[in-house]
Amino acid sequence: MTQFNRRDFLRAVGATGGAGAMLATMGALGLTPTAQAATRGAPYRAPRPGDFTLTGRAAAKVVVLGGGIAGLTTAYELGKAGYDCTVLEARDRAGGRNFTVRGGDTTTDLYGNRQTARFSDGQYMNAGPARIAQWMVTLDYCRELGVPIEVFTNVNADAYLYNESAGMTAPVRYRAAKADVFGYVTELLAKAGDQGALDAALTADDRERLMEFLKDYGDLGDSFDYTGSTRRGYSVWPAAAGVPGVVDTAVPTASEVFASGVGRYFAFEFEFDQAMLMFQPVGGMDRIPHALSQAIGSRRIRTGCAVTEVTDRADGVTVTYTQGGRTRTVDADYCVAAMPPNILAKVPHNLGSGVQSALEAITPSSAGKIGLEYRSRWWETDHRIYGGITETDLDVTHIWHPSYGFHGPRGVLIGYYNTGSKADSYAALSPQAREARAVAAGVKIYGEKYRSELVSSFSHHWRQFPYQEASWHSTPGGPDAPRYKPLTQPTGRVYFAGDWLSYMDAWQHGAFTSARTAVTALHQRVLA
Ligand code: ALA
Repeated sequence: MTQFNRRDFLRAVGATGGAGAMLATMGALGLTPTAQAATRGAPYRAPRPGDFTLTGRAAAKVVVLGGGIAGLTTAYELGKAGYDCTVLEARDRAGGRNFTVRGGDTTTDLYGNRQTARFSDGQYMNAGPARIAQWMVTLDYCRELGVPIEVFTNVNADAYLYNESAGMTAPVRYRAAKADVFGYVTELLAKAGDQGALDAALTADDRERLMEFLKDYGDLGDSFDYTGSTRRGYSVWPAAAGVPGVVDTAVPTASEVFASGVGRYFAFEFEFDQAMLMFQPVGGMDRIPHALSQAIGSRRIRTGCAVTEVTDRADGVTVTYTQGGRTRTVDADYCVAAMPPNILAKVPHNLGSGVQSALEAITPSSAGKIGLEYRSRWWETDHRIYGGITETDLDVTHIWHPSYGFHGPRGVLIGYYNTGSKADSYAALSPQAREARAVAAGVKIYGEKYRSELVSSFSHHWRQFPYQEASWHSTPGGPDAPRYKPLTQPTGRVYFAGDWLSYMDAWQHGAFTSARTAVTALHQRVLA
């Protein structure tokens, strides 16, 4: 095939197709100012081998630091056009915080706690990301890579709410709490409206429509009283003729409902990143890095390689790393640094103080989870809870029921998913003590089976985990603040990527989109 260089090619297009065709072609190659300006937020276009055929350029050699989602995505996307990528990953497996723990997996935290998971076959816990919203690019990668997905139950009307500090001695079902909170709130508003208190704000028609909505939303009676509702649930479920069911009539007063504080959990499901439906890969979240790694090719991903120095030069980048006690280097045309910023900040480099102070401005957060494997799925049989989250004000914070393996013989509950100082206080304990404390909390809500049916546990704390030392990060001012410019734009031949450089930190979506942005910028430069 005839190889054109870019100038010849564009001249030929201009001669035969006129200026419009030439601009369109330049746009397709990502070379016009508008195409470059629109990169952010514009539909993503992956690099293609044809880009090089058209421009006469050659695919470059790229070293990628970090084999988490951002690093793997970088190598995967560049690999589509034939770039020669090498991924350096410090841990013994790729995926970064996308970490699915199965039986036999071993970790050692920074306190020296060594754990080996004893989960039985088919059981797992997602120690890091565990849910995906429908709009997230993560699902596009699942589709593209052939990773099957299933529903992740984020909110369940039959899961529990438990606020010990409000004096609760037994949990309430989400459905009952919602019926009561919405019932009393709508009663108050409807009565205020009925007494004319809203007349200054509403026309007569508005008021009528509002009253109609409130009665329906709160299940109110004709005089706008909330007196309970079948929405709260039944003490005897309705069944065949002769069994109309017994409505649960133990309706707390409005004062008791507000004092219980259960309403604080409802807004969670309104968030655009947490609203149902949500999804998870079948068989564990790590099916995503697994599929990415397969597509990239295992020979391009070097595990057990901790980066020790990054040197940017006029004509390339040299990265030094240790592997099995040996110091090695890799030379490349470009580098994409996709390590956690708090880890990268400890690596010597010649990228300047702007890069260093930007990295140091991004602060690490804490989160932990414990997986509790049970010999029976008593939460399904005894409590009729299939998936979803029990919310608490205990230090375990969130308790997750598994959204896979329904009706199977065993199951893994997430006994705590907590953050900040609560996570750190669990991390400071031995794994056995973490389990004991988590189980004691769960017993308060679910009863003794929470202890007696337990088979094994595995706990994971990101802030105390080597090469991560963070569950996610806070980027004060947002990633577009001027201080992060040395990271959002290339510094020399080094590009940066990670969820911490996105508006969706703590989500894989942020890592995927950040990697796409770095890939697009790097590819445009190589083509130019
Ligand atoms: N994205 C994380 C979560 O859903 C923080 O819990």
